[in-house]
Amino acid sequence: TAFRISRTSTPLSPAEREKRMTAPGFGRVLTEHMVSGRWAKGQGWHDLRLSPYGPLEMDPATAALHYGQIVFEGLKAHRLHDGSVGVFRPHAHARRFQRSARRLVMPEMDTGMFVRSLEELVRADRAWVPDQTGHSLYLRPVLYAEEAVLALRPAYEYRFLLMAFVTEGFFNDDLNPVTVWVSTRFARAARGGTGDVKIPGNYAGAFAAQVEAAEHGCHQVVWLDSIERRWVEEMGGMNLFFVHGRGAGTRLTTPPLTGTLLPGVTRDALLTLLPEHGLPVEEVPLAIDDWQELCASGEITEVFACGTAAGVTPVGTVRSAETRWDVADGNAGPVTRRVAELLAAVRHGSLPERHGWMHRV
Ligand code: COI
Repeated sequence: TAFRISRTSTPLSPAEREKRMTAPGFGRVLTEHMVSGRWAKGQGWHDLRLSPYGPLEMDPATAALHYGQIVFEGLKAHRLHDGSVGVFRPHAHARRFQRSARRLVMPEMDTGMFVRSLEELVRADRAWVPDQTGHSLYLRPVLYAEEAVLALRPAYEYRFLLMAFVTEGFFNDDLNPVTVWVSTRFARAARGGTGDVKIPGNYAGAFAAQVEAAEHGCHQVVWLDSIERRWVEEMGGMNLFFVHGRGAGTRLTTPPLTGTLLPGVTRDALLTLLPEHGLPVEEVPLAIDDWQELCASGEITEVFACGTAAGVTPVGTVRSAETRWDVADGNAGPVTRRVAELLAAVRHGSLPERHGWMHRV
């Protein structure tokens, strides 16, 4: 498939760009280019192009607006220790994008085309990849039903978009522990549903619980399984890891992928990486009552969340409608710090890894 390139004829001055890149927050500072592509039944992928970033014209009957046939991804480009740029695990994100698309009966984009799109955008907007530690360029691919028809069926025409924004840590602070809210009123995902793919509806459906969490002074929601309302699943935007014991006996657990959790790429990376660095991890279910009891008994010594956006974020306090407890003394512990350092080192290419995760552009 041909890939047309047209760069902006009015690039920002370096001074203006630097200004926008200072204190970027999350999702606000978009770069100067985007990638767009189309797929149609009988025609396949076509019209792939890099162009200046700008608004879209959209038919009000665009199917995605009505029935939510949309999937997306989130991954990051980092400035490496040698000044070059690396995208973290683009192939894993390509596979998950394909899985999500299959679940919503949408066309799959092959890995080569997905990675090529990332490469073209990162090349065009390379100057937007921050140097500052903790800052990165967040890449956001999205695929949606573009056919202008309100028929209730999978669309015959789709649009792919890729954009990028400069970001700092999701919580905008360095390993400050978050307080989490255990939602018993809402559920995120049901068995056989769409909780294990990356679609906007999962996130929109979580906002009500997120608002409830905020009303109780919490930063994030902990989701329980929707049947027994007992098993800890994820935090909707990040996966959870539990540290058991301390010193030489330290081991970690994370909830298994039961089909109602999003299979996080960072989660997967830690499952591989941590045992290589002397930290064994097992995928074991944890009941919410046991989380509390094992904190009280001192067996659970630390808890952290992880994700592309979240990096590694310590969980200090847990609250629900009935109870609240701290994880150890509520501060970031040594294992969480070490995991955060390992992940940052791998993302920035300063710790060699043999899995081919770092894709230089
Ligand atoms: C991530 O990129 O880590 C996410 O979970 C996406 C979310 C911020 C929408």
